[in-house]
Amino acid sequence: MSTPAILVENVTVHYGEVLALDSASLTVDAARICGLIGMNGSGKSTLFKVIMGMIKPDAGRVLIGGQSPTKARKEGGIGYVPQSEDVDWQFPLSVRDVVMMGRYGHQGFTRRPSKADRSAVDQALDRVELSEFAERQIGQLSGGQKKRAFVARGIAQGATMMLLDEPFAGVDKRSEATITRLLRELASDGCTILISTHDLHALPGLCDEAVLLMRRVLMHGAPEQVLQPENLAMAFGLDVLNRDLPEEPGRKHPTARATAAGTESRS
Ligand SMILES: Nc1ncnc2c1ncn2[C@@H]1O[C@H](COP(=O)(O)OP(=O)(O)O)[C@@H](O)[C@H]1O
Ligand SMILES: [Mg+2]
Repeated sequence: MSTPAILVENVTVHYGEVLALDSASLTVDAARICGLIGMNGSGKSTLFKVIMGMIKPDAGRVLIGGQSPTKARKEGGIGYVPQSEDVDWQFPLSVRDVVMMGRYGHQGFTRRPSKADRSAVDQALDRVELSEFAERQIGQLSGGQKKRAFVARGIAQGATMMLLDEPFAGVDKRSEATITRLLRELASDGCTILISTHDLHALPGLCDEAVLLMRRVLMHGAPEQVLQPENLAMAFGLDVLNRDLPEEPGRKHPTARATAAGTESRS
């Protein structure tokens, strides 16, 4: 058996009294695009942070390509697009500075960007269609442009894995299309992608596989299968509600559909 790109095994995380992940297990193979869905508070961002090695699990283990997250991150293998809430948008960094952060691992002790660093940054900016905004302070971009800047950081870094925490929240259609196209390109170059989203409609077009999270992994399979109303009902906490619903022809679980659709407007 080949080593999975992401191995999360029985991972439990608490924040004080709050149980955020409860023996969660997930494996993702290389070059796959895996969509992560679950209601707010289901542990999606925590899962990303554990995979990044930013949070140490209370129990269980995480291996990235067979090595520790800390090691994988130090080697520049993991690109991370954080959810907007986790970024200080006032920080005095230009778009170019943010993308250049992806090159730190390639730079020497002095952190002086080389010609190769500059050219990697220019190319990444070009790929995400942000060249003309390179000198702008990062907070002075639209929601979608901000996400694209972080995707560019991962590209400049040469990451073999990209973790995207709700990259489509509050994002315009053009940015969503650009990001989707880029992720497809990156995956076909061998990059493994884990992406959380509330945009359930976009899931089959975006992802090879999908995961339903509710503190633990409830289900992992083909997007079409995971999106079955009865499975969504389970992840969005409606199983009890739906158990006794009479089946209407062509509309098996109206409550589940309504709720799943309702998550899209949330950011
Ligand atoms: N820094 C934190 N301190 C305390 N509780 C937290 C912290 N971050 C997340 N939580 C709690 O952990 C649970 C999972 O949160 P999170 O991973 O952010 O979920 P999601 O990204 O799916 O919305 C929630 O109950 C949330 O309130
Ligand atoms: Mg989150």
